[in-house]
Amino acid sequence: MENISDKIQKIRSEYGDKALVPEDLNSDPIQQFESWLADAIEVEASEPNAMAISTVDTENKPRSRYVLFKNIVNDSLVFHTHYESSKAKEINNNPNVSGIFFWPEIYRQIRFEGVASIADSKVSDEYFKSRPRGGQLSAWASHQSEEIEGREILEERIKELEKEFEGKEIPRPEFWGGYLIDVHHWEFWQGRKNRTHDRFSYSKVDTEWKTVRLSP
Ligand SMILES: Cc1cc2nc3c(=O)[nH]c(=O)nc-3n(C[C@H](O)[C@H](O)[C@H](O)COP(=O)(O)O)c2cc1C
Repeated sequence: MENISDKIQKIRSEYGDKALVPEDLNSDPIQQFESWLADAIEVEASEPNAMAISTVDTENKPRSRYVLFKNIVNDSLVFHTHYESSKAKEINNNPNVSGIFFWPEIYRQIRFEGVASIADSKVSDEYFKSRPRGGQLSAWASHQSEEIEGREILEERIKELEKEFEGKEIPRPEFWGGYLIDVHHWEFWQGRKNRTHDRFSYSKVDTEWKTVRLSP
């Protein structure tokens, strides 16, 4: 059987050749992000709002995982999770996070760096209400990031909760909700032919955004 190195060597994607020029960039990176996300949704990119978020643990070891970007509130990016999960403990200890979106369908990547904080309960309640009942129950049932002996424990817990909440609105558990990421650095990457990609970063200087082109 062909080994993985040989398989990888055969992969050689070209990244289109759509130019990203300074004139196309919105002076506000949040609007630029919104416009690129809208493009990704338009082309039906797979999981367009999935973003990888990196945190550091108490020993400064970086850890990454995907979460779903759900909203923009006060110019901050919102995602939701368990407030006792590993990521939440890491954010509590060090709120500096970085994140990344990748939309291969349009050869675009967005990176960002910012500071995370717990969202207002209104933001979390609003989103929790919009979740399908199954997602609401699993938020209650899961001790996210903790070791669990078997899947049946989770399934049993969900069955119990289904009975408990039968015919009732499911409230948001206090241990589950949103985080806001206040982004102070963004980078927009447009893949180009022969790896001559276009990259622009935005850094916040006082209250202004400074934009520069970066070498690919
Ligand atoms: C596409 C995708 C989206 C995800 N979205 C979320 C999310 O919005 N919130 C969440 O807590 N976990 C989400 N997860 C699961 C996380 O990646 C992760 O397994 C979980 O949050 C536990 O991470 P932690 O132990 O570092 O806290 C998602 C996973 C994938 C693959």
